Amino acid sequence: MDKLLIRGGRALHGEVPVSGAKNAALPELCAALLTAEPVVLHNVPRLKDIATMLALIRNMGAAVERIEDPDCSRPDARGVVRIVADPLHRTEAPYELVKTMRASVLALGPLLARFGEARVSLPGGCAIGSRPVDQHIKGLAAMGADIAVEHGYMIARLPEGRTRLKGACITTDMVTVTGTENLLMAATLAEGETILANAAREPEIVDLAEMLIRMGAKIEGHGTARIRIQGVERLGGCEHQVVADRIEAGTFLCAVAATGGEAFLRHGRVDHLDAVIGKLRDAGVEVHSHGDGIRVKSPGAARLQAQSFRTTEYPGFPTDMQAQFMALNVVAQGRSTVAETIFENRFMHVSELLRLGARIRTTDARQAEIEGLSNCDDNTEPVPGLSGATVMATDLRASASLVIAGLVAQGETVVDRIYHLDRGYDCMEAKLRGLGADVERI
Ligand code: UD1
Repeated sequence: MDKLLIRGGRALHGEVPVSGAKNAALPELCAALLTAEPVVLHNVPRLKDIATMLALIRNMGAAVERIEDPDCSRPDARGVVRIVADPLHRTEAPYELVKTMRASVLALGPLLARFGEARVSLPGGCAIGSRPVDQHIKGLAAMGADIAVEHGYMIARLPEGRTRLKGACITTDMVTVTGTENLLMAATLAEGETILANAAREPEIVDLAEMLIRMGAKIEGHGTARIRIQGVERLGGCEHQVVADRIEAGTFLCAVAATGGEAFLRHGRVDHLDAVIGKLRDAGVEVHSHGDGIRVKSPGAARLQAQSFRTTEYPGFPTDMQAQFMALNVVAQGRSTVAETIFENRFMHVSELLRLGARIRTTDARQAEIEGLSNCDDNTEPVPGLSGATVMATDLRASASLVIAGLVAQGETVVDRIYHLDRGYDCMEAKLRGLGADVERI
């Protein structure tokens, strides 16, 4: 199993490209199932999750071609994928693929809307919580689908005599990102109008909606909590550029800040990271938009001021940045409190950070108190504390937090089980090396 060996203590300097967003590319690949015409996606990141989604779509019988498939020797090069979902042999997402990636559930809405049937495995739990998909099911049922759960599968059909879903007004019980995406895609081909109230507002939803509009969908209000969709009879092909990954950008911002470095994140979008950048600025980090990217300059790890925050839906502080910002708080000055409100079990990085010398106390499953390691008054002392150790990655963003801590720690840190990192970070080691980090896959 691959591990990452990090020799810490070097500040990150230079330029790093930000790749296309995993969480936009995944629903956008599924959107290709809505049409018989070719869909070409540009800026598709090199990720295990993308390979899984392509395998899933190929397994249905669609023609999937990677037109550009650059390797990590060129971190700035961009992947291009072409999909023609015509014909499909089967409208199914089997357990073997879904169990490795929950986002496979995004096939449900498009398949049902276009073919009137879908059989998609229930994803089951995952490391960060139980993560049910009841809201996806409830929404599609409101649009007229008959959905049963049998033998671990969601089996969805249109009732006898119907060829299309019908528009509905759907208010989900909570804000759900993939739930909104599934219902949005389904509604594009439904008969009549659908209103998604309590919709998620993430930039990835906006990007998906823009792609669907290019395909001929009629959508208004994306980016707000109320999305209005007028169903059309058919959608056509399109070319679309995947939006930059705000979580990858945010991760590099934290890594540069925590190591006391200075960098330019090419393609990064300041406007998608308001909550994180606000906290970084309060911590003493200079961050601003510059041309096609973000400039970041750390005051030095010993001068960072720890920041308390709580995760909420966009535009609030993203749960997908919680672990990485906690790593920064660990090395900063002062006390901070981190509250996780989206997932029930998202502090698994804490026990691993403790192994590196962090001072963190979890008061319950959703709240952690951090005692920053920098407490020198004159701001000239090096950061005391973190020392390299072997740590275990438990989920995608937890892994990123361990990498950040490893970059700051003295000596060697080995991050085990980095397949989690490969699921969601495009060429992470190559990019870190480009910034001067001493990292190696072993
Ligand atoms: C997406 C992101 C993930 C991010 C998360 C929250 C993708 C592929 N993944 O995950 O990186 O961490 O948003 O920003 O885009 N819930 C239910 N029932 C449902 C749906 C959700 O109870 O039917 C709950 C979840 O358990 C969770 C909360 O709602 O507690 C939010 O989950 P959701 O927004 O759906 O997360 P995902 O879309 O799975």
